[in-house]
Amino acid sequence: MTKLLELNLDGLFTQELLSLCPARENTIEDLLKSLKSYTSESKGLRTSKSPYSGYRRQISSKEGLSESLKLASELRERFESMLVFGIGGSALGARAAFEALNHTISPAKKKKLLINDNLDPLQFEEDWSSSPPQNTCYVVISKSGGTLETIAQLSFCIERLEALQLKVEEHIVVLTDSEKGALREWADERGIRALAVPSDVGGRFSVLSTVGLLPLAFAGIHIEGLLEGAIEYFEGRVIDLNLVPKLASRLVDFEKSLFWAHVLMPYGTRLKNFSSWFVQLWGESLGKRKSSILATGQIPVAAVGATDQHSLLQFLMEGPNKMVSGFIKINRWPSISTKPCAVMRVPQNFAALSFASQKTFADILNAELMATEQALLIAHRPFYEVSLETLSEPCLGALFAFFMDLTTLTGAALGINPFDQPGVELGKKLLPQLLLKST
Ligand code: PA5
Repeated sequence: MTKLLELNLDGLFTQELLSLCPARENTIEDLLKSLKSYTSESKGLRTSKSPYSGYRRQISSKEGLSESLKLASELRERFESMLVFGIGGSALGARAAFEALNHTISPAKKKKLLINDNLDPLQFEEDWSSSPPQNTCYVVISKSGGTLETIAQLSFCIERLEALQLKVEEHIVVLTDSEKGALREWADERGIRALAVPSDVGGRFSVLSTVGLLPLAFAGIHIEGLLEGAIEYFEGRVIDLNLVPKLASRLVDFEKSLFWAHVLMPYGTRLKNFSSWFVQLWGESLGKRKSSILATGQIPVAAVGATDQHSLLQFLMEGPNKMVSGFIKINRWPSISTKPCAVMRVPQNFAALSFASQKTFADILNAELMATEQALLIAHRPFYEVSLETLSEPCLGALFAFFMDLTTLTGAALGINPFDQPGVELGKKLLPQLLLKST
């Protein structure tokens, strides 16, 4: 086993919690079989109704790696900045990885990467004007190729480039389905460079495909390391893979006992966007209608420690005991300077805090996490902990893979399809009429 990632589930199986919410038995083998059938390419392993996603296939075969590296290196030669247009799974994963791994890029290799995932006019204007179009490439990411927000951004971009007499086909790159969709059609017609988003991988499972790999490689991140960490995890060389269905099954025990929220609280601001990526993954995959009267899922909540000890923690400790928390710990924080941030000596006026003297910020942060966990244990509040060896590409790759598998396994345990999102369609249908009426 490597030390990339460790999983501790003790905080879900205390005596008190087991009597409050009994654990189901003998589900691990069944869930592992479901994971195989939900993610196996071979139709023989699936029933006709079995949901399917190819994220394990795509990552294990490193599909998209060489194309992303090649195109990223061409774009790096020609441009200083990249502005990504995309939303949901077409934005959140790359943003999470960029934030978490920014420190790994040497100053000489740094390029500017901006990801705009909304039609907030102020933010859009700011992102647009922050890099001169002459030196910027625009990457339009949409698997379906017809997402309103993304196509609105693309339309704006085409007009501005044309007004500046810049060549659209030099500045715009498209990531979309290899055959289907209006964006593919447009790119082919206009001779725009395009990479394929794998047709069997949905947006929220696509961070380690071209969708995340191209922008991250442009920014200077070692994308091979991300894939390698994920592959090591899938091959069972990171953690005992029986622990993941054990966690999924336990989360479903809590769901059935009406623990309606799943809070993810990494200790470190660099993983704040990882929590947002998790919210989409967990929420869109598991919040499903099972029948006319039955619905599944736990609401995902994004938090960050230690910041939210001064916000959400009060609720976690004393609000209704209906939430499960997941903590992420960085065992060994990387440092970007030769001298890590530390408290050398707390001034005498703050004698009550003198215990923090001679401690690094990382020591304090991790001790705060331990204190939060111990407090939750005393209050009989359920939690689990994932710890990363450090904040590196392989550790983050393994972390992405772990949460994707956890989501698939939880979907299987709930008996729903974690790979679709039918609930988002109604609003899309209602929109055109409302927009036409409003102007
Ligand atoms: O996970 C998903 O499939 C969705 O959230 C999509 O990522 C999101 O709707 C964007 O879709 P598209 O990439 O087709 O523009």
